[in-house]
Amino acid sequence: MSEHTVTITDNKTGKSIELPVKQSTIGPQAVDIGRFFREMGYFTYDPGFLSTASCQSELTYLDGDKGQLLYRGYPIEQLAEQSNFIEVAYLMLYGDLPTAQQLSDFNNVIIRHSMLNESLKRLFEGFYHDAHPMATMVGVVGSLSAFYHDSTDIGNVEHREIAGHRLIAKMPTIAAASYKHSVGEPQVYPDNSLSYTGNLLKMMFSVPCEEYEIDPVAERALDLIFILHVDHEQNASTSTVRLAGSSLANPFACISSGITALWGPAHGGANEAVLNMLNEIGEVKNIPRFLERAKDKSDPFRLMGFGHRVYKNYDPRARIIRKMCHEVLENLCDMNDPTLELARRLEEIALNDEYFIERKLYPNVDFYSGLIYKAIGIPTNMFTVMFAIARTVGWVAQWMEMIGEDNQRIGRPRQLYTGRGERDYIAIDKR
Ligand code: CMC
Repeated sequence: MSEHTVTITDNKTGKSIELPVKQSTIGPQAVDIGRFFREMGYFTYDPGFLSTASCQSELTYLDGDKGQLLYRGYPIEQLAEQSNFIEVAYLMLYGDLPTAQQLSDFNNVIIRHSMLNESLKRLFEGFYHDAHPMATMVGVVGSLSAFYHDSTDIGNVEHREIAGHRLIAKMPTIAAASYKHSVGEPQVYPDNSLSYTGNLLKMMFSVPCEEYEIDPVAERALDLIFILHVDHEQNASTSTVRLAGSSLANPFACISSGITALWGPAHGGANEAVLNMLNEIGEVKNIPRFLERAKDKSDPFRLMGFGHRVYKNYDPRARIIRKMCHEVLENLCDMNDPTLELARRLEEIALNDEYFIERKLYPNVDFYSGLIYKAIGIPTNMFTVMFAIARTVGWVAQWMEMIGEDNQRIGRPRQLYTGRGERDYIAIDKR
């Protein structure tokens, strides 16, 4: 047999199995263990999916050791430098960079779908007055299938495409409306003459009684952050979207489940957690005390914005955004802002600390994105909402890829059962 295989032998029974190796374009190949349980009687055990490829995908490639990230083969550095968010969205959904005409058509489609059904306004009003915008967003996105059920037939390719466009287009409108609700201001309608991020800024920060001028530095910075956050392979939220989608749930429900998974501080919630942590540290002189806490295994405190499951040398997104961060801070900020000075010192001290060097813990993209958001004036509780807007493109592309597969099946992991063995029920008066 010329096919590459891996043989696994059970040293208890002597039984062997020869498993095929699936070829990748670049990066590690994968041993196909689909027959393993049936033939060997064992499950494989891999909590946290450290060695498990949960699917096949053509979208995003990342190499943690090299610090490499490719969208559809294009290096993130080139896209960050030369492209824009809408073009990257097209690339992710359709596989190749668009022609000028394709880009203009796609932009028009997204613009045309940016308004929300008017009845949705009443849904926002039902949320508690100071609800966290992520909570509002999860609810509203989940409810979209109640308003747009004309695009929820997932067996229909056109429905899938329209649902994807709607999600990408409406996310900034929902995000801004969630924010406006939390501060008690009226919702602002989208403006079709503006860019994706310019529109978001206007919907968030303008009020009907005043002229609003979009700051080009803020608009470009947001566009860059959005490009960097578009997709990141099979992370927790993307895997959640795929798992929900594998049950053939509608796309609005699937993306809503992705938002909930993104919310946690170990994932997309890290950008908000970074700012909260900086506030907690308070002053440069307190940094050593917090570093000691981060190293102490009996203390749950971790340095937010440091470390990554896959990137063990550096996060390429962090390198790009770090540069932008300095540009934004110089243009938009009081350089003497104590939080920013604290962040700079924390970065420096942690990067020179033996514990962080040994474990290859570097600042990740969210260490810097939070600082940029702060400089732009975006409130802390909106940071993860921003991440969700950008990641919607990746979620939609991953969901479309999965649903379009020939042998798509429901995702159904197994478990290593460690509970009690079978036992008889005891009547309540005998316990
Ligand atoms: N502060 C202190 N120690 C850390 C940190 C940290 N931020 N991150 C990892 N470690 C330690 C960890 O305790 C372990 O030490 P030891 O080997 O002595 O047991 C070692 O480094 C390896 O870490 P791990 O927990 O095995 O790493 P993981 O791959 O399970 O977790 C992570 C990755 C991102 C969840 C984690 O680094 C973390 O919690 N970072 C802070 C949260 C954060 O910034 N998340 C955003 C990630 S980037 C955006 C995104 O993808 O959503």
